[in-house]
Amino acid sequence: MFAASHLFRSSVTPLRRFSTSSRLCSAIPVLQPWKTHLPAPSNPQSPLIHTFFHSPTSTWQFLVVDQSTKKAMLLDPALDYDPSSGAVDTKEVHGVLGFVREKGYSVERIIETHVHADHLTGAQVWKKLVKPTPPLCIGKRVVQVQATLAPAYAIPSSSLQNAFDHLLDDDETFQLGSLTCTVKHLPGHTPDSIGIQVGDCVFAGDSIFLPDVGSARADFPGGSASHLYSSTQFLLSLPPTTRIFSGHDYPGEDRSKSCFSTVADQKMANLHLKDGVEEAEFLKMRKERDSSLAVPRLLHASLQVNLRGGRLPEKDEEGRRWMRVPIEVKGGEEEEF
Ligand SMILES: [Fe+2]
Repeated sequence: MFAASHLFRSSVTPLRRFSTSSRLCSAIPVLQPWKTHLPAPSNPQSPLIHTFFHSPTSTWQFLVVDQSTKKAMLLDPALDYDPSSGAVDTKEVHGVLGFVREKGYSVERIIETHVHADHLTGAQVWKKLVKPTPPLCIGKRVVQVQATLAPAYAIPSSSLQNAFDHLLDDDETFQLGSLTCTVKHLPGHTPDSIGIQVGDCVFAGDSIFLPDVGSARADFPGGSASHLYSSTQFLLSLPPTTRIFSGHDYPGEDRSKSCFSTVADQKMANLHLKDGVEEAEFLKMRKERDSSLAVPRLLHASLQVNLRGGRLPEKDEEGRRWMRVPIEVKGGEEEEF
């Protein structure tokens, strides 16, 4: 468990931008989807979905397409970051973008399901490369997350304002070509977490994971296991054949990675939330489990970029960018230093 107060004592780490303008973009291989999920034939609102797995952070990126118009939305795009060197690399964005161009899709929106704490978003790189520029959207409670966490990193308010192009309201609907998409507030993992419901699919971000993984942690500042339980109960109340797409997967050795399961599968087998698990039992499990989880490896870099909507920290007077990393003294007293 960690609290926002842990973030206030900081050192800094240099940030290098591995700009693809300095190398031939054509040399970056086009990424092919891990899988392409066809629309459900019985549901005219069912989307075509290409799924891309960002292995370094076990993150699923979803390219959701209306087949009739080739209009697409991109959920939770990832950006490579090496905390040892401070290097940011855009090859993941260019790889997925190459696929988008091969298919002739028009990316209409970029959506973040929440402010991620385990990977950097590639949203701003996408915005630079795609024309016309798609709006970057996130749930409206991102302002609450920014207010809680940005002071710890001394992020200027000017970098928070307009970090995102559109704040999605609860139950807001929008069109993706002929498909109607609905925003669902799914708090718990973070207060700003949302899902996107379209046809027989829900892109649920970090709420419920594959059945043998269970559920997302709820110990981030503003997180709530009780809210997470309520959010998952909404998901599990959907029709049994509904496909729930999760934001990450952490498979064990006995299966390969996967990105979705049906409501029926989840109700039958979810490690934390199968039928019969009451809220009190879930809260006890979540509290015990969260207290044993490590701080995400890319926590500080992720927040400093993602709170800014994917922009890097501002340059200093010498033209360099820096990440701030808090120091926590363990095994002794701070006065010893
Ligand atoms: Fe997350």
